[in-house]
Amino acid sequence: MLTLGIETSCDETAAAVLRDDKVLSNIVSSQIDLHKKYGGVVPELASREHLKNLMPVIREALSSASVTLSDIGLVAVTYTPGLIGALLVGVSAAKAIAYARNIPFIGVHHGEGHILAAHIEYPGIGYPYIALLVSGGHTALYHVKGLGDYRMLGQTRDDAAGEAYDKVSKLLGLEYPGGPIVDRLAQEGNPEAVHFPRSRQEGFDFSFSGLKTAVRNHVMLFRSKDKGLDPEMNKKDVAASFQAAVMDALVEKTMSAVMKTGVDKVVVAGGVAANSLLRKRMQDEAGKRCIELYLPAMGLCVDNAAMIALAGYLHHMRGESSRLDLNPRPAMPL
Ligand code: KG4
Ligand code: ZN
Repeated sequence: MLTLGIETSCDETAAAVLRDDKVLSNIVSSQIDLHKKYGGVVPELASREHLKNLMPVIREALSSASVTLSDIGLVAVTYTPGLIGALLVGVSAAKAIAYARNIPFIGVHHGEGHILAAHIEYPGIGYPYIALLVSGGHTALYHVKGLGDYRMLGQTRDDAAGEAYDKVSKLLGLEYPGGPIVDRLAQEGNPEAVHFPRSRQEGFDFSFSGLKTAVRNHVMLFRSKDKGLDPEMNKKDVAASFQAAVMDALVEKTMSAVMKTGVDKVVVAGGVAANSLLRKRMQDEAGKRCIELYLPAMGLCVDNAAMIALAGYLHHMRGESSRLDLNPRPAMPL
């Protein structure tokens, strides 16, 4: 069975081909350069760019998998959550291909795609496990009991962790997307230089808006109207101190989810799972507590279509598919 996966929920136009659960190709065309000058994703520009790039990206995915459209047996596409105009481009293309070729079509929840990305590298991972989903749009902990059986233990009450990274990058006068930039800078800074507050949310919930405000207040101390940001402020230390506060929350809550549920297997998913400190701290904790840890390769953490194809394929194997009148949805719980 060959599955074509399509992902256009935000600012990556992506297509992938899987043979059963094995990735034959995984093509991502990033729009980052287009959105950079606006400091974030401009929805209308994103939709137009998807429209321009999607067919070339699909063609490239097919050719690097050495297959043609007529070999494809299933089309899987992200239909929620995301920017509505951007989702519409991918969903419309997927429906058109499925209808023209008379093959099944399946809509995938983007968050589920991120979680299942771990199964690409570790097909024998097995259930249950705890999944920490951390991206630009999500920050949540799930007790994953099986395919499609996700019990949310907690989530952010305000910003997603990736969103906080993007905002802090902006405050520091750095570019979009902020995650990789702040991560790199933080590696050269002192995480104890500035004491940013740790949020005390109940249970497994997170909150990053107070931390973001604390970073803004700190930066304001070094900013003047006429001279801009004082070079005396050490951006590396601010980045490292911010990063330490984010990771304290993510690691601490994940470990208490392990303790509370007794499930000693952890998957970290989403764009922020590419973070160097998060990877290191999770590895350290997992080593200390004998937890099985699954960290997808960086390319499978950030947005891609291989994870969407896999999620669609796994559901299809259980006899599921979507109707052609499925519409994209800007938001929907997993
Ligand atoms: O999963 P993703 O590609 O898209 C969404 O579904 O949101 O995640 C993108 C987010 C962005 O906010 C980006 O700044 C963040 O992931 N990110 C990182 C790192 N790499 C990407 N955050 C922290 N450290 C990183 N190394
Ligand atoms: Zn994503």
